Amino acid sequence: MSVSIKINGRCLSAEPGQTILEVARSHGIEIPTLCDYPGLPSHGSCRMCVVEIQGWPNTPTACTTPVADGMVVKTESEYLRSLRSDLLRMLLAEHPGACLFCPENQNCEECMITLRKAGVTTGCRSCPSDGACTLQDLVKQYGLNSVAYPVRYRALAVEKEDPFFDRDYNLCVLCGRCIRVCESLHFTHIPTYVKRGSQTRVGTSFGQSHIEAGCSFCGACVEACPTGALWDKTSKWDGKPDSEAQSTCPFCSLGCDIRLQIKNGAVIGVLPGEGMSSLCVKGRFGVPEVVNHPDRLKHVLRITDGKAVKISWDEAYQLAAEKLASCAPDEFALVTSTSCSSEDLFIARKFISQVMDSDAAYVSTEARYGSNLSATARLLAKSRPLDALNTADLIVCLGLDAQYSQSVVEGRLLHARERGVKIITIHASQHVPGRFADLWLKPEPNGEALMLSSLAAGRPDAQGVDSASQLIEAAVNPVLVVGPEYLMRLPAAVEELQVSTGAQLVALAAEANLVGALQAGFGVGKSALLPRVLYLIGTALPQNLPSDAFVIIQNTHNLDEGLFAGITEGLVLPMAAFSEADGSLVDQSGRMKRLSAAVLPPGEALPGWEILARIAQAMGKSGFDYRTAMEISAELAGQPIAPFKVNSAPEWLICPSEHDFLGAPLQRWVEGLRELGFDENKEEQHVPVAGK
Ligand code: FES
Repeated sequence: MSVSIKINGRCLSAEPGQTILEVARSHGIEIPTLCDYPGLPSHGSCRMCVVEIQGWPNTPTACTTPVADGMVVKTESEYLRSLRSDLLRMLLAEHPGACLFCPENQNCEECMITLRKAGVTTGCRSCPSDGACTLQDLVKQYGLNSVAYPVRYRALAVEKEDPFFDRDYNLCVLCGRCIRVCESLHFTHIPTYVKRGSQTRVGTSFGQSHIEAGCSFCGACVEACPTGALWDKTSKWDGKPDSEAQSTCPFCSLGCDIRLQIKNGAVIGVLPGEGMSSLCVKGRFGVPEVVNHPDRLKHVLRITDGKAVKISWDEAYQLAAEKLASCAPDEFALVTSTSCSSEDLFIARKFISQVMDSDAAYVSTEARYGSNLSATARLLAKSRPLDALNTADLIVCLGLDAQYSQSVVEGRLLHARERGVKIITIHASQHVPGRFADLWLKPEPNGEALMLSSLAAGRPDAQGVDSASQLIEAAVNPVLVVGPEYLMRLPAAVEELQVSTGAQLVALAAEANLVGALQAGFGVGKSALLPRVLYLIGTALPQNLPSDAFVIIQNTHNLDEGLFAGITEGLVLPMAAFSEADGSLVDQSGRMKRLSAAVLPPGEALPGWEILARIAQAMGKSGFDYRTAMEISAELAGQPIAPFKVNSAPEWLICPSEHDFLGAPLQRWVEGLRELGFDENKEEQHVPVAGK
């Protein structure tokens, strides 16, 4: 039954258990807050939300006080204003306030462009959160122009040893948002309060680095920080973004919703999309370094005997048309990347069949999967979205690590566990679900397939299989969550288990648009010998090219400094990145996810589909006069999805890494990932896992 309360003279109805803050907000009544954060339980530490309640002797905090029938609340008064101003002054006695009280701060914005460097060096405007700081907003709202208490600068060294974000606890107001958001998402305390009394500050246990403490670098703490204490390294001094664009993360098959942060026509950061509580480290921190990398291709180049010369797009289209027109179907192959949009893949596939009259449609990741790709494709065709975990009563994780890549799955598993769902994990080494699973089955080296098969047959011939079989048998709605490694190495064994248990399947491929590539009909090429004319979209150059080879390289980045040296004749065509072209990806469950052109591509770069369509037109082919990606999306939507069909990969295909992005391991462009152990020369990555 609802209760009636009065706030600022307005009669309002509320649900029992709601706090005064929740009721006020739901009726558009503003109460200032600092430690409150969406999705986190109330904390009541900053006391900015104090209110007056008729008949109450004190001023309780609105964020922690539940409503009661007949309550009469005042959220604004002279008394509350003076209380909040005093609370702010006390906070500011330990918070550098140059940006707040400088007499020039009103004129600062105009002068920023010229004063910035000196300002940062001398300490003025030294806060990366300037203009985007909750504390600064409150000081303005309450018209403070001095602190009025003795000021104590904590003189803590800025902590910069971890990749991706810096920590300046001189700017921390001890609101605990970072600590609580980490606890709510990961059920761990990587950041925590250290020391006591006036020395209290946020840090890590035993002074460990965040890597040592097992942080997954999801960045949720940075987003939750209301001041400039935590900040992305790459965008630290970029200031407030001008705008935001909704898009999709292109770094794995989960296709998480993201918001691209735009400033001065460039992507400066990424935040989780609406309804997402976090991202993995690749999506949260990797994008700006990738799309703004100095190795981006900006010019159209003609390569002759290893030397590159700039030419125009028209010259490139003509040369490509000439070479492709004189090439027999069996002398041609097009290799694409699973990082390409579905629109690029659709036009590339149409180009192969309708322009080149060929079936030579390869996707570079075939080389990773080898003969397993057919079985993996069957699993992907059955894969369900992560929401399948919401109704599971048993979750079996198969080779799922979830520390750095796909770390959003961890939160879903933890929340399922809170609901009482049992979790089994099968993994040979330390991994995230191993911290909290009810049962961890550790296969012997190379014994994973046997263990899955024993489980499928209910044969208790490996340790723990018996208990796991009993849990699976008792489950009404079991779900198998398959990590990238098992999906690549053991798809047949996973399939056997899925069929025998009838469990739902959530298959988490490493590749962003593998499903889109299979739907487009890639993976069917069967040329054992390296063809003479190669069209490579976002893929590495094969070795031992024929001496008369003609190579078209279409990519966003120059993959290798010495790349051109091995090419006798060819073209380099600069391609727009996912943040610069409209399009879509297909996620691991077959859902279409939108990409948006948030910024312009650099130099002469064009969307991938447009380059192919213009070459087709230069060859006199009809059916390629697309003007926008939306026209392609509409045509694509009308295509029937045929059962996935793949052939074995030829030996000449270069095998991409697990974290491949358009032909190069992501860590080549994102330095911090190398610090996390992402190593392009190593198959296995060292992954520290947070302690219990
Ligand atoms: Fe209520 Fe901080 S917001 S005490």
